[in-house]
Amino acid sequence: MTDVTIQFELNGEPVSTGASAGRRLSRVLREDFGLTGTKVGCNAGDCGACTVLVDSRAVCACMMPAQQAAGRSVETVEGLANGRSSCSGRLQQSFLQHGAAQCGICTPGMLVAAEALLRNIPHPSEQQVEDAIGGVLCRCTGYRKIISAIMDANASRPAEPQTVSSVAVGEPVVRLDGSPKVSGTDLFGADALPADALLARAIRSPCPRATFEFGNIDEYIAKSPGVVAVFTAKDIPGQNCFGVIPEFVDQPVFAEAETRFEGEAVALVVGVADIVHDLDLSLFPVTWRKLPEVRTSASAADETAPQLHPGREKNRLTGGFVQTGDVDEGFAAASVAAEGTFTTGFIEHAYIEPEAGFARRVGDRIEVQACTQAPYMDRDSLAGLLGIAKQQVRVIPTSVGGGFGSKLDLSLQPFLAIAAWHLKQPVKMVYSRAESMLSTTKRHPSHIRAKIAANKNGKITAMSVDGIFNTGAYASWGPTVANRVPIHAGGPYHIQNYRAESSAIHTHCPPSGAFRGFGVPQSAVAQETLLDLLAEQLQIDPLDFRIQNALTNGLPTVTGQRFESGVGIAACFNALKPYWQQALESAASRNRSAAQTPVRYGVGVAGLWYGCGNTSLPNPSTIRVGLRNDGRVVLFQGAVDIGQGSNTVISQICADAVGLPVEKFDL
Ligand code: FES
Ligand code: FES
Repeated sequence: MTDVTIQFELNGEPVSTGASAGRRLSRVLREDFGLTGTKVGCNAGDCGACTVLVDSRAVCACMMPAQQAAGRSVETVEGLANGRSSCSGRLQQSFLQHGAAQCGICTPGMLVAAEALLRNIPHPSEQQVEDAIGGVLCRCTGYRKIISAIMDANASRPAEPQTVSSVAVGEPVVRLDGSPKVSGTDLFGADALPADALLARAIRSPCPRATFEFGNIDEYIAKSPGVVAVFTAKDIPGQNCFGVIPEFVDQPVFAEAETRFEGEAVALVVGVADIVHDLDLSLFPVTWRKLPEVRTSASAADETAPQLHPGREKNRLTGGFVQTGDVDEGFAAASVAAEGTFTTGFIEHAYIEPEAGFARRVGDRIEVQACTQAPYMDRDSLAGLLGIAKQQVRVIPTSVGGGFGSKLDLSLQPFLAIAAWHLKQPVKMVYSRAESMLSTTKRHPSHIRAKIAANKNGKITAMSVDGIFNTGAYASWGPTVANRVPIHAGGPYHIQNYRAESSAIHTHCPPSGAFRGFGVPQSAVAQETLLDLLAEQLQIDPLDFRIQNALTNGLPTVTGQRFESGVGIAACFNALKPYWQQALESAASRNRSAAQTPVRYGVGVAGLWYGCGNTSLPNPSTIRVGLRNDGRVVLFQGAVDIGQGSNTVISQICADAVGLPVEKFDL
């Protein structure tokens, strides 16, 4: 398409650029002017990460053809950070003080939407703030901190001074990596791609299970101007297999004989970025033959079901088991019992940042820069795929715009590494929102049968659980889920007679992986629902029932572990009591007033616990600290901060360990 030259004002300066019809303003800002503070989360007007001001009105830059910006004023988060903000940087400061920027990927869009509001209403109400940022999604914060930060931006009182203390842990500090997040300069996976890099796009299976046959790929390359190379399984120099748990490594980069889930890659097309970006991938020479698939764990566990992996009978990946005491005796001694079957479905992580990055070959090494939660695991897997030593692989993690577990797995890193290794040219890749959702891991769907019983005094006497988890096509973190659930399914309660079993079953679905809790939230749904039913039968307040059964220091868990200190669940429940009473009364009163309507109000309470670190295994780590000539301390540590604040809290811990103020530290 022919470019037309457009002129507009950008952050107060006149600019001009070429824009073909339909080219989006977000691309022009990011690619032509390097203003990568404008993020692209969905490219469809849904997430608001690309929000900019056009003539002082907030618009989604991904939905606006760049040509429509001609003659108008466009402002981005970088402009606001450089003095164009109506409140002279107080908004950004307020975000930092309130901890409103966590991973930071939504922060530019939030700041711009807030700026549009504050220009007209310097002291907005909560409702006005909610309305103004309603089009910008955040997956980290739960919005409360963002709303408070915006409402306080023009508050007359000065920002809280930072506490100065000789001890860092436990003291509130502004996150050490916060400034770039509010200025728009933080670099995420798609923000630092070399301009001259080739672009890669994957050819993916259109059905859950299929065999396939390639046509003439050489002819396809020859007849497709701009396409430089196509890679398939035969181009993998090492093993076409990766995974996160060494004993269960089973996932190919490119499927070979048969695909196991819809969206599984079979080939990679690489070429000149602008051309490959717009390539019609349906013209790629491959023919598919759809085969019958199994999508539920029940159908996959049937003897007649197709087997996904040799050696995993009835598609069972693995399982977990915990038993203590005598469950039958415990049930026999009970006065009341509750049981049920609970199912939960797939859940997509929906981080705002789709997977993105690039790779380049440096001599006999490969460098991969991408958004990842697990650079060391990435390094080890990439070495195996390329058939080279770990020391020849360098993984450079960018800032991560949300991960929630899914970015613990490899996604586009193998594609980038294989293409750059062969082509000896930088290769980049950015998943579309649809591709991210189609091909990356999900929360395990669960099917849980559980029974809990209690005596007339309200003490739990026994619990049994049987959980089946749909682990999808490949192992990913399925073994962790299967192992973790039986240990955690009793919740933070003292249960003397307990039996729990779990299985992870393969299906022709996307791999289920890590997602905030490794199966524990699913089992808590079952266990906490049953506790409510027991409390109801015993006519005990649900919160009191939980307090009566809560673990305390010295009591054994279901695996026999006794914590001598730090078991805080009873104190936590007790602290809730006044609010619980208030909430119950408020719901009752609202129900009285709404008696003539179909609307009813309710209040719920639930407890959950979660073991940090590897399940049943040591989880060692190493950090290094260096001292510069100027007296500043440099901290090297391998935990990736995906918004949870590890860059800050690990610095605080280190500061206390070496007896220096945290302000002395560089990451
Ligand atoms: Fe534009 Fe999501 S709304 S990227
Ligand atoms: Fe909002 Fe992460 S801080 S999406």
